Order: sequence, then structure tokens, then C-alpha cells
Amino acid sequence: MNFGVVGAGQMGAGIAQVAAQSGFSVTVQDVKPEFLERGRATIQKSLARLHEKGKLTQTPEEIMGRIRFSTDLADFADSDLVVEAIVENEAVKAELFRTLGGIVKAEGILASNTSSIPITALASASGRPAQFIGMHFMNPVPLMALVEVIRGHSTSDETAQKVIQTAERMGKTPLTCNDFPGFVSNRILMPMLNEAIQCVMEGVAEKEAIDGIMKLGMNHPMGPLTLADFIGLDTCLAIMEVLHKGLGDDKYRPSPLLRKMVQAGLLGRKSGEGFYKY
Ligand code: CAA
Ligand code: NAD
Repeated sequence: MNFGVVGAGQMGAGIAQVAAQSGFSVTVQDVKPEFLERGRATIQKSLARLHEKGKLTQTPEEIMGRIRFSTDLADFADSDLVVEAIVENEAVKAELFRTLGGIVKAEGILASNTSSIPITALASASGRPAQFIGMHFMNPVPLMALVEVIRGHSTSDETAQKVIQTAERMGKTPLTCNDFPGFVSNRILMPMLNEAIQCVMEGVAEKEAIDGIMKLGMNHPMGPLTLADFIGLDTCLAIMEVLHKGLGDDKYRPSPLLRKMVQAGLLGRKSGEGFYKY
């Protein structure tokens, strides 16, 4: 299978890695060579960790050998499935899918790893709504079992079946939902993270206490502020905006502190500082 990934950030790199581990021939595209280099380094580091633990059936070199890095979208012409993992912005994603719709072979499937943006709107932009779907991997992709599969209004049964089978071949468990703002995962997760940020703003507790209470008290693997930093505060804000606008209820209002931190460039782990320093 020719597997395409657009965006070599934390999610794109992880998706490309797992696709290559599954034996697919992978092409990853990003806008600048330095972003591709960063993606390559992320994959190499993750493969080295898995190799050290004896969790790979092939060498990291064999797996890396199946990944081609490119700055040219034309390299997706022969892709069977292209998964988009670029910035969480509807206009930017729609523009990309308009372009990809004219490049990828007619029978190819286009998928978005979006956290919250309407799949149906992106499907319309692509010009091939029956062959369009949400394929939502979780972070960190090499470790997380779930792929949330989101059917747009016009997604065909055949497309859904192929994507479910592909997720299974990647060793993941696909679970399907319909196209509503935030789907299931982020409609439930993100208001909790937003509320934790509100607790910081209102001085309910120190950030370490907020994280500790949720970690130890609810057996969450990471506290909500650590998790928000891990996801990226820009992505968290973008998701809250989609929930707020899409569901029209003020209970989804993004915390003003979240907005201010994004304005200050404090994006979490990827910028070196968020609620914590990295
Ligand atoms: N690649 C390979 N191995 C990795 C890795 C990576 N990217 N990241 C961590 N590991 C390995 C570590 O080496 C370690 O291996 P061993 O157990 O064999 O020693 C193991 O994974 C555990 O790592 P750590 O000990 O460093 O940390 P941990 O025990 O806290 O586990 C975690 C890390 C799996 C990320 C865990 O903290 C966790 O599950 N956190 C919550 C993640 C989560 O909620 N993800 C969903 C985010 S929301 C989302 O993705 C959707 C969206 O749209 C925003
Ligand atoms: P990121 O900021 O780490 O990476 C985004 C990458 O996309 C960057 O390398 C950027 O250069 C590239 N890019 C931007 N515009 C592009 C374009 N027009 N063409 C090609 N490449 C472009 O972001 P991320 O955390 O990997 O998130 C990517 C997507 O995955 C978002 O839609 C996000 O909502 C979603 N997502 C994120 C998480 C998470 O925990 N971070 C989890 C699931 C889904």
C-alpha cells in the first residue's frame, strides 16, 4: 500500500512511523526541509526506544527505508490513502484538500487526522466526499491503541471499511463515530483540560496539585495540564473554538488563560514551555 502523510509534526511523524512499521510504503510531506528533518529525527528516536525494548520485528533501518520525505505534494499522485496532519485550522486544511483532490489518483482515499474540524466540510473541499473520512490517531501514535474513525455525511461504506482495515493492519483498534464537533474523544477530553486551566486561572490550586489530584485520584496517566502541554496549547485552543462555535453553548468557552498563553507563544512541549518548562 502507498501511504501518504501530510505534515511531519508530532502526529504526522508518528503516523508515518507506524505505517512504515506495518510494511507500507510511506511518503511524508511538509512545507520546509527543516520540518521534514525534525520529523525524521522524531521517528528515529522513537524507533530506537522501541528497538532497545525489543518491541520491533524489524530493524529501525529497514523501517526508515520505507519512508520517503518530500516537500512536493505531487509525490502523492500514486497514493492509496493520504492522511493529513497539519495545523488545526479549517481554512488551511480545506485549501490543502482542494489541492490534494486534484493530485491523488481517482481511487485514492483522503483522510484527516483533525481533532475537531467538521469532516463533512473538508470532504466537500476535496471534491471526493465519498472517499473522504476522519482517521484520528492519538498522541503518542506509536503507543496509543485507538484510531477514532469519523464518517462524514457522504463517506461511502467502502471507504469506511478500507480505512478500518488499514487501522487494524497498523495494529490499532478503530472505533467509529459520526461527524459532530470534537467527535467523541475531544468533546469529552478537551472540556476537562479547559476546566483544569480555569482552575489555574482562578487560583483553585497550584498546577502541580491540580495534576496530582487527577493523576492519583482518577488514575489518569498524565495530569490535565501536563497533557495539555503534551498535545500543544495551540491545538487545545483550536479544538475549544470549534466546540464553542459548533455546539453554540458557552460551557465550551475557551479559558482566557489558555488564549493568553497561546498569544504569548507558550505552546507546551513543542515550544519548550507551557504550564511547565521542557
Ligand atoms: N515512541 C516510543 N516509545 C515511547 C514514546 C514514543 N513516542 N513515548 C514513550 N515511549 C515509551 C517509553 O520509552 C516507555 O517505555 P518502557 O515502559 O518500556 O520503559 C514507555 O513508553 C512509557 O513511557 P514513560 O515511562 O516515559 O511515560 P509514561 O509511563 O507516562 O507513558 C504515555 C507515556 C504512554 C504517553 C502516558 O503518559 C500516557 O498514556 N499519557 C496520556 C496520553 C494521552 O492521553 N493521549 C491522548 C491525547 S489526546 C489526543 O491524542 C487526541 C487529540 O486530538 C488532542
Ligand atoms: P504540529 O504543530 O506538531 O505539526 C504540524 C505540522 O504540519 C508542522 O510540521 C507544519 O510545518 C506542517 N504544516 C502546516 N501547514 C502545512 C501545509 N499546508 N502543508 C504541509 N504541512 C504543513 O501539530 P500536531 O500536534 O502534529 O497536530 C497535527 C494535526 O493533528 C492537527 O489537526 C491536530 O489537531 C491533530 N491532532 C493532534 C494531536 C496532539 O495531541 N497533538 C492528537 C490528535 C490529532
